Amino acid sequence: MPRTFFRKYAFLAILILVLAGSTGSLLRFALVYGMPAGWGEIRNVVHAHSHTMFGWTILALMALIWHHLPGLTGRKLPRGVRWQMAATFIFSLLQLPAFWPNGYKSTTIGSAQLPLGAMSAGFAGLTWFWFMGLYVRMVHGVKERALALRLWNWAVILLFLASLGAMAEPALLAMKIENPFVKHLFLHLFLDLFTSGWLLLALFGAIWARLGEKDVTPGRWLPVASLALFIIPTFLLGMPPDMLTPAMYWLAALANLVVAAFVALYLWQFWRNWGVLPRLVRFGMLGLVVQIGAAVMMFVPAVWQWGVGALRIFYLHDMLLVWASSALMGLLIAQFGNETRRRWMEGLWMLGVGLMWLALLAGGFAPWLPLSGRTFLAIAAWASVIIVLAAVMALTLFWPWNEKRSLGK
Ligand code: HEM
Repeated sequence: MPRTFFRKYAFLAILILVLAGSTGSLLRFALVYGMPAGWGEIRNVVHAHSHTMFGWTILALMALIWHHLPGLTGRKLPRGVRWQMAATFIFSLLQLPAFWPNGYKSTTIGSAQLPLGAMSAGFAGLTWFWFMGLYVRMVHGVKERALALRLWNWAVILLFLASLGAMAEPALLAMKIENPFVKHLFLHLFLDLFTSGWLLLALFGAIWARLGEKDVTPGRWLPVASLALFIIPTFLLGMPPDMLTPAMYWLAALANLVVAAFVALYLWQFWRNWGVLPRLVRFGMLGLVVQIGAAVMMFVPAVWQWGVGALRIFYLHDMLLVWASSALMGLLIAQFGNETRRRWMEGLWMLGVGLMWLALLAGGFAPWLPLSGRTFLAIAAWASVIIVLAAVMALTLFWPWNEKRSLGK
């Protein structure tokens, strides 16, 4: 597949990030000053923001995986990849307008009542299954298993499990199942396995694929299958504490501790190749260090119960924005981006993301700090503007899609 194809999808994935990030920024201001009249209900806009953001991460990862797979397998990309990528882009983006007016509830269009949000999420999820099908077809029977490939194989299994959780949401709605335990179980199966499972392993794979290009000897001994298997029960820790039995909590907390130890091994290997890693990948690792610290602290039930309430949004964005989005941005730029203005964009990104990260963390500790929670929320809101500006600037690093045209060839 020509480089233009991947530059185009890096651009389109970041375009989704710009739009979902602007929505997140609007929400950040709405949480301080209230939502402007007629702009929608906060809960619905949060759904629009979070679902669309998952589109940014998955499209960016798919572009990186499809880019590296021919080199790792010695095979050609399946023909369906072009259509699958186009469909993933369209349905990821459609979730923004589809969820905005009514979230998961129905919207009246003419004489019909349609649950637009659930429908768009369902279609987006189908394109994920399409990706998984094409991936399995491409790697099936490949003898030489590079570390990156083994990580992606397990990442795809975790994406499959997470997608079942995502598909359960509209299904429960259709079956009118209101049981809060069942609803939370599937919600966190999706949210947490997507974030701490698929995203983690797929990104590790993309980083190793990049290191492989730089002739770094892959750490073949690093745990892959065991890392994936220990990740599975950790989604329970995202559930409301009053819904878990002590046995469920201890199982998940122990598994989480093992995962943290494995992640530390990966970090150690990345540390040894620090100079070769793109700058934003290095910055994103700050998010992983926090996860390791959190896994140790969560081992105390009282700290976990407090954190699930006070630091939920910080924790999610530590993983999804600081770690995953920074690392993805770093890999996309290193792999397909222009050289010009790269440093400015990276500097602005680290400033905005770092400031929002600090403000959300401090907000959790506001009762013990001299500044009010509202002040920290306002800082987070202004920081989010810097992040969106950085993302807009990142778009220019992938334009024009066809580099030869810009060189007048
Ligand atoms: C420009 C950067 C971002 C901003 C300004 C932002 C802002 C927000 C805000 C204001 C909320 C609601 C917080 C609350 O309910 O108290 C939220 C929730 C959320 N965001 Fe973001 N966000 C950003 C990046 C991301 C990214 C990169 C992802 C995923 C890849 C993401 C996924 C989520 C999720 C999953 C939720 C929680 C949804 C729920 O409660 O069901 N966000 N975000």
